[in-house]
Amino acid sequence: MPIPAVMQGRLTLPVIGAPMFIVSVPDLVIAQCKSGIVGGFPALNARPKELLEEWIIEIKVALAEFETASGGKAAPFAVNQIVHGSNDRLEHDVDVCVRQRVPIVITSLRPPAEVVRAVHGYGGIVLHDVISIRHAEKALEQGVDGLILVCAGAGGHAGMLSPFALVAEVRRFYQGTVILSGAIANGRAILAAQAMGADLAYMGTRFIATREANAREEYKRMLVENAAKDIVYTSAISGVHGNYLRQGPDELRGRPPQSPGGLEGHLGRRTGARQHCRRAERRRAGRSAARRISGGRASAGGHALPDRGRPLGGYQLPGRLAACRAARMRSKPASRAATRPKTLSGG
Ligand SMILES: Cc1cc2nc3c(=O)[nH]c(=O)nc-3n(C[C@H](O)[C@H](O)[C@H](O)COP(=O)(O)O)c2cc1C
Repeated sequence: MPIPAVMQGRLTLPVIGAPMFIVSVPDLVIAQCKSGIVGGFPALNARPKELLEEWIIEIKVALAEFETASGGKAAPFAVNQIVHGSNDRLEHDVDVCVRQRVPIVITSLRPPAEVVRAVHGYGGIVLHDVISIRHAEKALEQGVDGLILVCAGAGGHAGMLSPFALVAEVRRFYQGTVILSGAIANGRAILAAQAMGADLAYMGTRFIATREANAREEYKRMLVENAAKDIVYTSAISGVHGNYLRQGPDELRGRPPQSPGGLEGHLGRRTGARQHCRRAERRRAGRSAARRISGGRASAGGHALPDRGRPLGGYQLPGRLAACRAARMRSKPASRAATRPKTLSGG
């Protein structure tokens, strides 16, 4: 099972920091890449659109300086493109990624033939997120370089399938790069993702409560304090099913922190059908679904607030240990346990 060449020798953990609307900003991406995991952000977070190129240059400069100072390699970064009719920035944002030769482009929603062509043109790779076999097959037909399986419990627009089911089914017909997401929040879960057959873990919610993330303190605290029962799965916010915190503090109600257009701004205008579904779902929910803010079930680990004084909340160590165990597991002969840990980079 392959780790893409662009990541080989650059990762300390088999992890991609998932792009998050509003939350993922250059500070977070730079911290993730410096610590040896892929950092990603949605192009739409850079507003106005002219800011996108500035953000990419800022990230490239910071990572180049880090490499010069440390003599080591930073992990590559990724830009997320929402491939959807309502995204009127798509052409502009893809042009910027091509000009800046962004190493990894993560596409969401529609299978992205034109984006794949453009990114392959300069040697970049495209990873596409899917929630079903049908979507996975369509994406592969378009020539993507890897599949991100968004399974039950993931933050944002999530699927409903168990990762056990989806990874196993995808592996029946696809031996390329598989990235797994859905409530992966610690080293054990990264290890489990690999044991299940994925190459890399895709983690979003776990990074919201870090000092580098663009989220209010109250939102961060809620994520840490909430449990799985506090997360609801609804299409009422944006028209696409996703996981949201059931209850937010008053100042967060209505829109997420520093949102330029609320969660709806993410997908742009809603269609009549979507508005209808949204109203119906709100009625069913019996309360204002628009009061919810995004968070996956990864928030439900009962873990303490991360160490705010340390980059990425001091996240690295437990993950490193688990990845070490994962590497040992992969190298273990079937008959007896190996005791010698292998190096982590390159999976
Ligand atoms: C607050 C938030 C915002 C998100 N925004 C986006 C987005 O703009 N584009 C996207 O492709 N995925 C988005 N996602 C989904 C993540 O990229 C990823 O699939 C998810 O966070 C993985 O599940 P986890 O949160 O359980 O780790 C978002 C997730 C969260 C929690």
